[in-house]
Amino acid sequence: MQPSSKHLCVVGIQWGDEGKGKIVDVLSADFDLVVRYQGGANAGHTVKIDEREFVFHLIPSGILQEGKICAIGNGVVLDPRALLEELDQLKRAGIDHEANLRISDRAHVVLPYHRVLDAAREQAAQDVSGRKIGTTLRGIGPCYTDKAARLGIRMTDLIDPDRFRDVLRRALAQKNDEIVKLYGREPLGFEPICEEYLRYADRLRPRVCDIGQLLVEEAGRGKRILFEGAQGSLLDVDLGTYPFVTSSNTSFHGLGAGTGFSPRQVGTVLGITKAYSTRVGEGPFPTELKDATGALLRKVGNEYGATTGRPRRCGWLDMIAIRYAIRFGDIDALAITKLDVLDEFEEIQVGTHYSVGGGDVASFPTRVDTPIEPRYRSLRGWRRSITACKRFADLPPEAKEYLQFIADEASRPISMVSVGKERSATILLEPWLKPRSAGSSGAGAGS
Ligand code: GDP
Ligand code: IMO
Ligand code: MG
Repeated sequence: MQPSSKHLCVVGIQWGDEGKGKIVDVLSADFDLVVRYQGGANAGHTVKIDEREFVFHLIPSGILQEGKICAIGNGVVLDPRALLEELDQLKRAGIDHEANLRISDRAHVVLPYHRVLDAAREQAAQDVSGRKIGTTLRGIGPCYTDKAARLGIRMTDLIDPDRFRDVLRRALAQKNDEIVKLYGREPLGFEPICEEYLRYADRLRPRVCDIGQLLVEEAGRGKRILFEGAQGSLLDVDLGTYPFVTSSNTSFHGLGAGTGFSPRQVGTVLGITKAYSTRVGEGPFPTELKDATGALLRKVGNEYGATTGRPRRCGWLDMIAIRYAIRFGDIDALAITKLDVLDEFEEIQVGTHYSVGGGDVASFPTRVDTPIEPRYRSLRGWRRSITACKRFADLPPEAKEYLQFIADEASRPISMVSVGKERSATILLEPWLKPRSAGSSGAGAGS
């Protein structure tokens, strides 16, 4: 990234899985701290270095770089079992950076009953209305529900055994009521959970601190902070495709509330988008391709969920959705990932407008049941492998034109292009590729 920004925030601007893990890993070389601020183990962020591939669910994707402080903010819902599994996996791979991890004392803890309730609510939604959300079943929604209902258990409670026993006993009585009476499932026992989680607490206690204070102090000492968003802007609980969303603020706006660090200190917000679109789970996806082209994108892009292994739905890039995410998410610049997945396509389409009820609209609709007909622009493919390209100048003319078209349509510059899974398959654009004009609709126009 260019030096204008001291602290940087990386967010997905589609429905998740944009390649945030890879981009954060690359960028973290230039930062001192890497911070997650929302979501939980529903995230799956992949980093590939040489032959080794890592998937991070809770640990910030900067953990592979030597000596980076990796912090989990108060806005994250933290499943200690998932976190320790991740740390142990890293250790087995010969990477022991556990001492670099910091966890907010205010982060809410995901407990076994959250997972049970996630599954029970999904099942009930499916049975009653045939309309489940298609969650990752990681207990995310139920944990955020408890937080908002002021029934949550935080890290500060977990690491104090007497207090944990007390708050768990009260919470579990209530949760078991719901599990048994509402969903007809087996109640969970108090002792096994208590014993298991107090073991986790012993290992995590030294890592727990006030993250807001840590970030303010480190920034004050001139350290640079990289914030790593999870999920994608269109899964935002307030501004995404509600109700088919996750339960947190996934855009840049989650940063302040999720860390206690002022977003006004963050210089640049980098929006990540694939060169096409994907979505896992239910919900609207206007440019989805349910045909052979969609299947080809899934095959070439290896579009299977990094957390659940579910096949991802695939389609063309949707500039209406992206312009909306750019506008509400205050995006300064773009990183385009998986451009290489389009290598074999003779023709590439991009959604530029929606037709609703016969009339063109440039804005993203509020209601997800709105019948939408996307309108496309067709661009020529390049029909050769670009994974070895190291500079913008190395790319074929059609790939350059595709990127320019995206920058124009988004009215935002492109600062990075990813042309393969590997850390090394990344093109840093210096200078950034600027939009030629305001684009056909403009980033803010009507959206
Ligand atoms: P995240 O959740 O945003 O971090 O993304 P995921 O890790 O869930 O999914 C992105 C997938 O695409 C992972 O398997 C990455 O290894 C892979 N990937 C990232 N960038 C590229 C790229 O430029 N080209 C290709 N072919 N794969 C990529
Ligand atoms: P990363 O960080 C893609 C989706 C789920 C479901 C909806 C709600 O890897 O990009 P939840 O379990 O959060 O209650 O599920 O959100 N979802 C994601 N989709 N990438 C993710 O994370 C996701 N995290 C949640 O598939 O549709
Ligand atoms: Mg992912």
